[in-house]
Amino acid sequence: MSTSQSRPVVLITGATGFIASHTIIQLLEEGYDVVGIDNLANSKKAVINRITALSDRSIIFRPVDIRDEKALDELFTVYPINSVIHFAGYKAVGESVEDPMLYYSNNMKGTTILLEVMAKHGVKNLVFSSSCTVYGNAEQCPITEESPLQPGNPYGRTKWMIEHMLSDLAASDPEWHITSLRYFNPIGAHPSGEMGEDPSGIPNNLIPYITQVAIGKREKLYVFGGDYPTEDGTCIRDYIHVCDLAAGHIAALESLHGNGYEVINLGTGKGYSVLEVIRTFEKVSGVTIPYEIVDRREGDAVEVWADPTKAYKKLYWRALFDLERMCNDAWLWQLRNPEGYRSNELPFASSEDQFSLSTIIDHSTKITLRDTKTA
Ligand code: NAD
Ligand code: UD1
Repeated sequence: MSTSQSRPVVLITGATGFIASHTIIQLLEEGYDVVGIDNLANSKKAVINRITALSDRSIIFRPVDIRDEKALDELFTVYPINSVIHFAGYKAVGESVEDPMLYYSNNMKGTTILLEVMAKHGVKNLVFSSSCTVYGNAEQCPITEESPLQPGNPYGRTKWMIEHMLSDLAASDPEWHITSLRYFNPIGAHPSGEMGEDPSGIPNNLIPYITQVAIGKREKLYVFGGDYPTEDGTCIRDYIHVCDLAAGHIAALESLHGNGYEVINLGTGKGYSVLEVIRTFEKVSGVTIPYEIVDRREGDAVEVWADPTKAYKKLYWRALFDLERMCNDAWLWQLRNPEGYRSNELPFASSEDQFSLSTIIDHSTKITLRDTKTA
């Protein structure tokens, strides 16, 4: 199984999460080797089976918390990691208001520890998951990277603070190459229907709620506010297909060397209202979505959509999938996996070593690893 050439090795934090899992598939397709870690706080190990099945390649997976400095140190010692895409973090706005320290500890402290271990091992290439939430209730759309930052909740403030930390770090040491990607609203699923968003409990976000209504798990959708100053009275968002988002990460990774610190919006540049999303979903699925317009949700911005020009200029990236495709793929995922990753599992080996890379050869100082199944 050995090859004469080593492939670039990327560490993915939050590897079993929604966006990371779709990104890993594309990294494997592009010829990268992947070491993935996740503490499984908001995802299932079964995701790794799906990645392996869909890509026909394996990854190293370790159930590691990014706050575990020793475990991180070991990973960087053992594997020839040369860049990191950092997805790991908590992301529920309401929870962050109720328990801010959970967010400051996990998102801020976790990122600090990760950066320290990276620096210790001389790995200074980083793509970071930021969010359009840093813009808060934007005064003007489309939102550019220069728009004012006014995050309105602790979750958003962790992203905002981490961005500052990364910017300071890159300014202090020209060896660091860092890009923060500010995602707009990621939805959709892998076109196979085998990977998608798997929220635990009642979904906070629009599309998972709609698909659960469509499949009969929930009675109706509650539309938060019908009296906003928009054409149909409901809020407007820039929904982006998770596979487009994944491609944006590959583009960011490949352009890292051109910069010190960059911030880039990843959105489509188009805004859709909640009612437009419902209608589009109904059209592609053929299922009627019962809904009721209720009070506004506290903290919701009226209108949030991106100016994605910088992503095109810097990364030669732009979103390709339209809202119909996003709804279609989210629906296929829900239909095929009514219980998310909890059902329909492929056999999962108990040993984490099962997911060793097919071959990593570090010709300089480190070690040669082979697939444990064939070595
Ligand atoms: P997700 O919850 O599916 O993935 C995050 C993963 O990180 C989870 O698998 C979780 O178990 C893991 N994790 C959390 N804390 C960890 C820790 N201390 N150590 C190791 N693993 C840990 O979320 P997602 O939607 O895939 O989001 C990925 C990233 O993108 C997050 O940082 C999120 O804040 C950011 N983001 C998400 C959205 C969105 O709407 N989905 C929008 C903008 C930004
Ligand atoms: C949410 C997060 C935000 C994050 C963004 C990224 C909140 C308050 N904000 O934003 O920090 O950056 O995801 O994707 O959680 N809606 C309903 N009924 C529902 C669910 C949602 O009407 O059951 C509406 C919302 O009011 C909003 C739109 O649908 O207008 C989208 O909501 P959601 O999917 O939760 O995303 P955001 O609120 O944009």
